[in-house]
Order: sequence, then structure tokens, then C-alpha cells
Amino acid sequence: MSSDFKGKHLLTCEDWSKQELDTVFNTASDLKQKFANETPTRYLQDKTLFMIFFEQSTRTRNSMEAGMTQLGGHAHDLTADKMQLSHGETPKDTAIILSRMGHGIASRNCFYGIGNKYLSEIAKNSTKPVMSLQDDIYHPFQGLADLMTIFEHLGKNTNGLKVTVSWAYADTHSKPLSVPQTQILLFPRFGIDVTVAHPKEFPLSKNIVEKAKKNAEDGGGSLKFTNNMDEAFEGAQIVIPKNWGGFGYYDINDYLQNEEESKKEMKANLEKYKSWICDDKKIKLADKNVKLMHALPADRGNEVTDEILDDPNISIVFDEAENRLHTAKSIMSLTM
Ligand code: CP
Repeated sequence: MSSDFKGKHLLTCEDWSKQELDTVFNTASDLKQKFANETPTRYLQDKTLFMIFFEQSTRTRNSMEAGMTQLGGHAHDLTADKMQLSHGETPKDTAIILSRMGHGIASRNCFYGIGNKYLSEIAKNSTKPVMSLQDDIYHPFQGLADLMTIFEHLGKNTNGLKVTVSWAYADTHSKPLSVPQTQILLFPRFGIDVTVAHPKEFPLSKNIVEKAKKNAEDGGGSLKFTNNMDEAFEGAQIVIPKNWGGFGYYDINDYLQNEEESKKEMKANLEKYKSWICDDKKIKLADKNVKLMHALPADRGNEVTDEILDDPNISIVFDEAENRLHTAKSIMSLTM
């Protein structure tokens, strides 16, 4: 294995060059093939990863823990309530201590205005690589699995590929902005033409949109926005219909100062857009070979109909979920 990446953090794909990401994807493909052939890949024998989850997770938790086992190491599945951080121990002290005991730290903290700051503080004080398992701004492992899945289904030359990232209605919980924000930052770096659709009360963060436009200019892709879901689906080769909360509608300090009021307003706004669902009618507007992607969990019947999500000719969501394992193993084996 290359040792060039040893100790490198993954808080956002923005900190990884395109060339470095190519190595990540090649390593992930190699690990995927070896997993299928049951070829051992004990590249992290006797190594320990500490994972700290502040929120629920199925894909991220299990891709990391299974990944560490398959690489010959072990992952501790920690939650905030099991640790002294629930009594106020600082991220700085937590990072110093865990990085003395093991070989990597990973954490999910999606609290708006808090998560990325928390992870950055851990990374600043850790002597071992720190991996984001999703925060309020970025979800780098999801972006990597998404792009690997696109390469597998649409080919490695993604120049001019039309991908639509659309807000969709959901009534489960206010999902973070981090998945669509990671996608709009990452995809245009690979020449992809991204269209984002959302109701006016559900924008993405302004600074991320500005950075994503710059990435598109540099990477040869493009980025455009619309408030019309149908328009965004026209001719799309990949559609990603997914809910996110209306956090980007507010100045962050105003939001944090009036959190309860803002949440009430977000809920009222949400109810106006129940028609934002990916169904057969929407799919018919897209390219005839359109593929559906979704980070999952999907809010079935709200974000997307069962008919589309379960259509094997359209839906590639389970390949996308499986690729969370291979990309996680790639990053861990390269950095730890
Ligand atoms: N896509 C994703 O991050 O899934 P989990 O929340 O289950 O980890």
C-alpha cells in the first residue's frame, strides 16, 4: 500500500486533490474485487479506530466497523452517552487521549452550526487521522461512494454527465445539508453538469454554493439552480431526490439564537411541498436510461415512490450503499 496518505484527515473531499481522489477510487475498486473474491486484505492488522456517533447510522457505522474487521483491525463503536464528553470533556482532550491509544478517530456530529467545528477541533488535536462520518456541512464518505457508483454505472469519463440533485419532501426528520453540499462540491470537479432543484425556503449554504461554482469552473463541470423539480428532471441521466432541512434559509447565528422558532417555521414551510416526490411522472421527464441514486435511508412514498426505488432498471441505490464499504476501507487503509 502507498504510505503517501498516512495521517491525512478526511473532513471534506475539498482537502483531497483530484489525483489523490483517483488513488482512493482505484484502491476502493481493488478492495471491492478482493472482497468479492474473498482475498484477505489485512492491511490494518492490530490497528484500532475509535468511532464517536452523536446520531443514528446504519451505512456509515457498519461500513466502518465491518471495514476495519476486514482490514484486520478493530473499530470501537462509541456514542456520546458512553463517553465523558457527555459530561463536557472537550474535543481537544478527547482527541489527544484517543490518538495516543489507537490509530484513527472518526466521528459523526450533524448538529447545525456545531458538527464541523467539533470535528475540526478533534482533527487539530489528534496525532492520528481523523475521518468525518458526516457533519452539518460535509459527508465525504457519502460523496466518495456516490462517485464510485457513478463511475461503475456510467463510466469513468463523466465529462458532461447530467446529474440532478433535487430536494424532496420527507416527514421523518430535518436532514442535514451535508449530502447535497458534498455532491455539488465534488461532482463538478469531475466534469459533471449538476442541476440543483429546491423550493426557495430550502437553499443550500451560500458559501458552499460559491465554492461549488468555483469548483465547476476549475473542473470543467457546471452548476445551475432552479425552484422547479420538473425542469431539473428534464434530460437528467442521474437523479438524486432527497430531503434536506431549511437550515440554509437562515443566518446561522439567527438560527442558533431562535432555534425553536426556526424549526417551527421550517416545518410549516415543509408542508407546502408534498408534491416534491420522485415518481413515475418525474422519471419520464428524464433521460430514457436515467438512474436513481439516494444516500439512504429513503423516506419511501415521500421522497421517492417504491415503484421507482425498487425498479432494477432505474435504481442503483443499493450499489451506492455497498460502495460505502469499499470507499471506507480505501480511506482507512490509505490513511491509518
Ligand atoms: N447515508 C448514510 O450516511 O447512511 P447512515 O445515516 O445510515 O449512516
